[in-house]
Amino acid sequence: MSHIASSPIPGYLLPDTAQVGKDGRLSIGGCDVLELAEEFGTPLFVYDEEHLRSRCREAMAAFDGRAVYAAKAFLCKAMAELVDSEQMYLDVATGGELHVAIAAGFPTSRIFFHGNNKSPDELRQALEAEVGRIVVDNFTELDNLEALHAEMGLTEPIPVLIRITPGIEAHTHEYISTGQDDSKFGFTVSLGLAEEAMKRAASSDALHLLGVHAHIGSQVFRLDSLARSAETLAEFVRPLGLAELSVGGGLGVAYLTGEEAPSITEWGEAVREVTQDLGVKVWAEPGRAIVASAAITLYRVGDIKELPGIRTYVAVDGGMSDNPRPVLYGSGYEAFLPRSTNADRPLQARIVGKHCESGDVLVDKAHLPADLQIGDIIATPVTGAYGYSMGSNYNKIPRPPVIFTSNGTPRQIIRRETPTDLLRLDL
Ligand code: LLP
Repeated sequence: MSHIASSPIPGYLLPDTAQVGKDGRLSIGGCDVLELAEEFGTPLFVYDEEHLRSRCREAMAAFDGRAVYAAKAFLCKAMAELVDSEQMYLDVATGGELHVAIAAGFPTSRIFFHGNNKSPDELRQALEAEVGRIVVDNFTELDNLEALHAEMGLTEPIPVLIRITPGIEAHTHEYISTGQDDSKFGFTVSLGLAEEAMKRAASSDALHLLGVHAHIGSQVFRLDSLARSAETLAEFVRPLGLAELSVGGGLGVAYLTGEEAPSITEWGEAVREVTQDLGVKVWAEPGRAIVASAAITLYRVGDIKELPGIRTYVAVDGGMSDNPRPVLYGSGYEAFLPRSTNADRPLQARIVGKHCESGDVLVDKAHLPADLQIGDIIATPVTGAYGYSMGSNYNKIPRPPVIFTSNGTPRQIIRRETPTDLLRLDL
């Protein structure tokens, strides 16, 4: 085994209510996570409900009650209910996300409907549900909205924001960067498309143009990029005297030891600085910053393979089906043993899943305690965003359950898929 000096998992990567007992065992929301692994099995997503609520409240305070949770980061009925109970708004990007929100009883007037290729059926679904805002992405959508307005005999104009592409580099991974001119999203400012779309929407009887929207990318660490995008939006709003703008989401979070991301509050301050003189309503759509560090994933170690002079592989019972981010974006994660949370982690190993591909890596360069055993429960922190939501059941691995913990009580909000579930679509 290759041993390198490495310190314990830092507390700032763990959920807010994480506590380490005298015996070194980790609890979240007052629940011992090893007991959760016993009770619910592994892999297992464990969320800290207090942490989720505290981030919702921070966002609502930072944006004067105009925080819109981006559902794509993690959505299920319980999450929609939590967001609703915090009075937040909800961003949905497909008819499917809208369906789940409605099933959870989320008030549709607080829903923003997004997407770069909304089908006429999805638009109809959103209009029937009377969602609060439709964020229009392209000219075809303007045509479709006007046609539906007439066809459905709507009496009120449809409330819309126009999504612009401000030509700003987010300095993040190419796949999650959306603000640059060469993008599938929105109306390009530098080509005059944004202006043209605004004129069309403003002069349409079927539409009520409320303002503009931009989302420059995700996992953005630079407040100056986020502030510049807000400035570009402000330039559109000012001459037209529009009532609203939305700065989108994108605030990054720390995944690794030593990383530091701005807080939601700091993001709010940076946006306020460039928008406060406009006298408009400013919306923000955080997804990752609300849910990412609220959760950890628990896995059980099934095999440890030492290849002398090459590396050590630690195989766990999940993989790219519950967290595809390392494979998709090369994202880094930490790992630790919740039985010895504060232990040094001198063992360097590659944590891999159980899928039939070499690329099925969860943590490429994990640091783990030297006494790692087969059967141990390994935890990866900061897995609350874009893990479960982008998961699959590749290789027919059943999707894991999701637990919310609070005040010593675990609440299973999504059950584990069963062998029957794996066959439910087969005819
Ligand atoms: N608003 C819009 C219009 C968006 O497209 C997104 C994310 C958000 C808000 C929320 O962004 P956040 O605050 O979560 O960064 N799967 C990728 C991230 C894709 C983000 C897509 N859009 C990942 O795992 O890193």
